[in-house]
Amino acid sequence: MKAAIITISDSGYQGKRKDESGPIICDMLKNYGYEIIETYILPDDRTSISEKLREIADKGDINLILTTGGTGFSERDCTPEATADIMEKDAPGIAEAIRMHSMQITKRAMLSRAKSVIRGKTLIINLPGSPKAVRESLEYILSELQHGLEIMVGTASECSRK
Ligand code: MTE
Repeated sequence: MKAAIITISDSGYQGKRKDESGPIICDMLKNYGYEIIETYILPDDRTSISEKLREIADKGDINLILTTGGTGFSERDCTPEATADIMEKDAPGIAEAIRMHSMQITKRAMLSRAKSVIRGKTLIINLPGSPKAVRESLEYILSELQHGLEIMVGTASECSRK
């Protein structure tokens, strides 16, 4: 499976803060056998984020886009809205699962407004911004993502019973 990673941070985009979360996602995905095709750092700007998501998804060769950052309550946070702008199907279970798991670690996980959606044959998942939150979120969902992606792209047609 092929993946793209988008770090969303005004200070990261301006070069004022090092992006630690993007590289963590990259390493974790590679360990699961994903090929990382593209990585970006974007500001907290709804149009820039939604246009980039649309551009990557509509090329059709990338199955998974993970974003990190911009899911909280601050005025500039708009990643979930930008994601909703280009979604074709909602896939809320993944974002719900991340919050459910994360709330066992910190109740502040309830402050993430992250979404998980499908556009064409691309699954887009918002992750929170901190490196710790990224690790905690991804480690919970990675084992089940592959199956969902295979069904989405049409290489698997049945869910084996577990
Ligand atoms: N999820 C996990 N697993 N671990 C965390 O430490 N932090 C929360 C939440 N989700 C956290 C988490 C906090 S404090 C916030 S404000 C929200 O994610 C939103 O983060 P963001 O604005 O960086 O996207």
